Amino acid sequence: MSTNKEAWGSRIGLILAMAGNAVGFGNFLRFPVQAVQNGGGAFIIPYLTCFLLMGIPLLFIEWSIGRYGGNKGFHSTPFMMHSLDKRAIWKYVGVFGIFSNIGIAAYYCYLESWTLSYTMHSAIGTFTGMTQAQVIQLFSDYISIDKATLIPFESIVFFIICLAINIFILSKGLKGGVERVAKIGMPLLIIFGIFLAIKAVTLKAGTDGAVNDGIVGLNFLWTPDFSSIWSPKVWLAAAGQIFFTLSVGMGSIQCYSSYLKKNDDIALNAMSAGWMNEFVEVVLGGAIIIPICIGYLGIDKIKELAELGGLAIGFKTLPYLFSQWGAALGAISGVMWFGLLFFAGITSSLAMGTPVMSFLMDEFNFTRNKSALTFGLVILILGLPTVLFFNQGVFDEYDYWTGTFSLFVFAMAETILFAWFFGITKGWAEITRGADIRVSIIFKYVIRYITPVLLIFVFIGALISPENSDWSGAFSSLFSGNGWPLENGSILKQLTNASLNEQIQNAVDSVTRDELITKKWLINGARALLLSVFLGISYLVYIAHKKRTKLKEENL
Ligand code: ALA
Repeated sequence: MSTNKEAWGSRIGLILAMAGNAVGFGNFLRFPVQAVQNGGGAFIIPYLTCFLLMGIPLLFIEWSIGRYGGNKGFHSTPFMMHSLDKRAIWKYVGVFGIFSNIGIAAYYCYLESWTLSYTMHSAIGTFTGMTQAQVIQLFSDYISIDKATLIPFESIVFFIICLAINIFILSKGLKGGVERVAKIGMPLLIIFGIFLAIKAVTLKAGTDGAVNDGIVGLNFLWTPDFSSIWSPKVWLAAAGQIFFTLSVGMGSIQCYSSYLKKNDDIALNAMSAGWMNEFVEVVLGGAIIIPICIGYLGIDKIKELAELGGLAIGFKTLPYLFSQWGAALGAISGVMWFGLLFFAGITSSLAMGTPVMSFLMDEFNFTRNKSALTFGLVILILGLPTVLFFNQGVFDEYDYWTGTFSLFVFAMAETILFAWFFGITKGWAEITRGADIRVSIIFKYVIRYITPVLLIFVFIGALISPENSDWSGAFSSLFSGNGWPLENGSILKQLTNASLNEQIQNAVDSVTRDELITKKWLINGARALLLSVFLGISYLVYIAHKKRTKLKEENL
């Protein structure tokens, strides 16, 4: 008998929790950086196309799989997927839906803990009067190992506090915990976001040291550049962003949706949460970092900073730029920025905890408290390498394999399962049953043909992306017998650590060489750890299946 008695309290609570699941660091840190790296206006067309042709269809698919599985008593993806098609393989494909949540939460909660610490630092005025170099130094001290204690003290303390908050909320259940936090966090996040966006776009060149009007940044993002539609690199980046931001291919949407009743609407709910995420991402997320940074630093400098990633801009640059607005407004803006990131983060990490808890409650009769605590402990153990070896690339390694690779693989598999094995006729009936909006029949064909083909293209594109993203050059090289020139960032080359091996070979001195060799060990260790987590979950799924089969036989 399962201990899982969860249920949603209200429709608005469900939509806000689903939107909170989607709205995260991806909206405020990842999106602007992707947009800048991919040419501003060049990014937005592929991005919106990916939203329509992959994002929305996947939302429909995942909400449907969740409600379907949930009504059969399954709240985790291995058994949900198995309920759609009886082949044993789907149970193990479904492992991705637990694995990704654990793997992502391990580094995501660490990031969340930074936002907590930085909210506090903004509130107490730590950044007031600091130079840009001092803000950068504060950040590197925060994440670096202390020479005396050999641990990054403050970051570990905040990581543990952050996990404790997550465990506490998760232990209160869907209605009393997740839903309540979403109802408070999402409106606050939107209010903070609107405040910062207004401040950013109304920046005036010449005041407080700004060199451009804020509107220059908006123009950069919103002036479409149609040439991008021929660039596979931009399409890959756009697809990756859509996956991460919507939390599709993760297993969390299916889990939240599995607590719906058979005839509850999913079409309108999915659209409401999905479009709310897009509003927060392109309207608010696009109107904070880019206008402020371009306002103060110009387009060339932000392109340079974007190469360092969203974390560098969000944590090393923005606190300094906020302080240009004076001590009080600087502190308020900092609290709003990091507070907004904290709410964005926690509503997503709670969504990562829920599938893991549901699995433990459904299959192993764990109580809610015990499963929340187990989730927290697993994340603590798995997250520690990202805390201790952040500078050695362990954090990025987790992000790559769990936050990008796994999402693609799982989304591809579930789309094929839904549209081709479960069958689009049954699938369409699921999507439209109880629907409070009329879903265009076009999506039936998109889900059956276009989404799977696009997903396969994107996956192959990432697997074998060629040097300098020059696809036509790569094909000519292939046809002239010189082979396919793989880029170091392609999945195949990542697997062989090609870029790191090159760096080791070209190291200027033995100290650098040794550091790089250690880095390689750590990265391979992180991969081995993640792989063992995947295998461990697969084993648990195997045991759970055996238990279920035995129970069924006994009841016959
Ligand atoms: N969807 C979440 C984010 O954007 C994971 O951060």
